[in-house]
Amino acid sequence: LDLENISIHSGFCTPFKSFATKAIHVGQEPEQWKSMAVVPPISLSTTFKQHGPGNHTGFEYSRSGNPTRNCLEKAVAALDDAKYCVAFASGMAAAVTITHLLKAGEGIIIMDDVNRGTNCYFQRIAVEFGLDVSLVDCSKLNLLKAALKANTKLVWIETPSNPTMKVVDIQACADLVHEHNKDTVVVFDNTFMTAYFQRPLALGADICMYSATKYMNGHSDVLMGLVSVNRDDLYERLKFLQNALGGVPSPFDCFLCNRGLKMLHLRMERHFKNALAAAKFLEANSRVERVIFPGLPSHPQHEVVKRQCTGCPGMISFYIKGKLEHATTFLKSLKLFLLAGSLGGNESLAGIPAIMTHVSVPEKERKELGITDTLIRLSVGLEDEADIIEDLQQALAAAVSIRHPTLLLSH
Ligand SMILES: *Cc1c(COP(=O)(O)O)cnc(C)c1O
Ligand SMILES: *[C@@H]1O[C@H](CO)[C@@H](O)[C@H](O)[C@H]1NC(C)=O
Ligand SMILES: *[C@@H]1O[C@H](CO)[C@@H](O)[C@H](O)[C@H]1NC(C)=O
Repeated sequence: LDLENISIHSGFCTPFKSFATKAIHVGQEPEQWKSMAVVPPISLSTTFKQHGPGNHTGFEYSRSGNPTRNCLEKAVAALDDAKYCVAFASGMAAAVTITHLLKAGEGIIIMDDVNRGTNCYFQRIAVEFGLDVSLVDCSKLNLLKAALKANTKLVWIETPSNPTMKVVDIQACADLVHEHNKDTVVVFDNTFMTAYFQRPLALGADICMYSATKYMNGHSDVLMGLVSVNRDDLYERLKFLQNALGGVPSPFDCFLCNRGLKMLHLRMERHFKNALAAAKFLEANSRVERVIFPGLPSHPQHEVVKRQCTGCPGMISFYIKGKLEHATTFLKSLKLFLLAGSLGGNESLAGIPAIMTHVSVPEKERKELGITDTLIRLSVGLEDEADIIEDLQQALAAAVSIRHPTLLLSH
């Protein structure tokens, strides 16, 4: 794959050096096993024999360390160009563990438009433990600046955000927060972009986290959270919390995710190509009000995207013309796209965030964010480009065939 010469990458950052080689080899060294296994074995044992009391191999008990998990953590750290990675049972287990870096009374700023699980955890659970949580549109630096308080210890950002695809300038945000207080931990949820398209740690973030349930594993069959860091103090604390809180992934899931990573580069290239084609098609279609895809020049922060990313994943949001019934008819008419939440698997998925993934977000907040009844979110999969476009086309045609009440009035 000669990525630099693929036209969809033009204008974006240069692809990260040796990414695929690292994905396939780091943490996978056959020499670490007596059998010289080329594929890391699934190590199900929960306990490990010690040479003598307190003299162990580095493994004692599977919650504190597991050989299969180690392989995955090493591979992910390499892909993020990070010193360390710590794996969790889900993206939410990672979020909860990171939040345990704080004490009651300390402050957290979260991006106003985040995944529903993250929103629910911070707004409905973390606040009950005396954490001071505020929601801010961090794509606007002046708003972030105004929201920083003396007690702010954690800033949690998703870029692009979900589902309205707002993009945050990672370096500018991290610099702003660290100028305010160098110890405030800046977390970037890198689930959408993946390590293949974006490296928040290199741009000043303290923590890069993933719901690996999505693209990183990429096969819609594992629930997993991953956290990469460079700072030794943060790693020591997170490693302690991983063991103490116990939100660890199973060895089998670690094996699957490790396997999924080996083709991350190929998958993301294809997601990018398919999504760009689908976004261009939608943008040119008269039944579509507006398309939000960070890879299109029409995206308000396209310049930032090109400056900090090597490409874009398969996530597209768009407003269909009409009302909720047009959106639902569109969704019901899709044949290839599956009507489902989640994202990042081989299969194309579609949904209406307002009544599916984001139904738990208060209505007033949804309105302010632009999560209306006609906003449709697509996770463009790895199928053939022509089939994806054909499916979108026929579903848009079906949606337009229902008449809009206001159109009737005007006739
Ligand atoms: C899904 C998701 C999460 C939550 O992760 P789980 O693995 O479902 O616990 C967090 N952030 C983003 C951006 C997500 O898409
Ligand atoms: C631990 O056990 C190994 C293997 O038997 C041995 O080589 C090593 O000296 C022991 N270390 C200590 C500190 O006892
Ligand atoms: C791809 O997606 C389809 C549809 O969800 C699924 O049946 C299939 O097993 C997936 N293949 C892989 C390799 O994940």
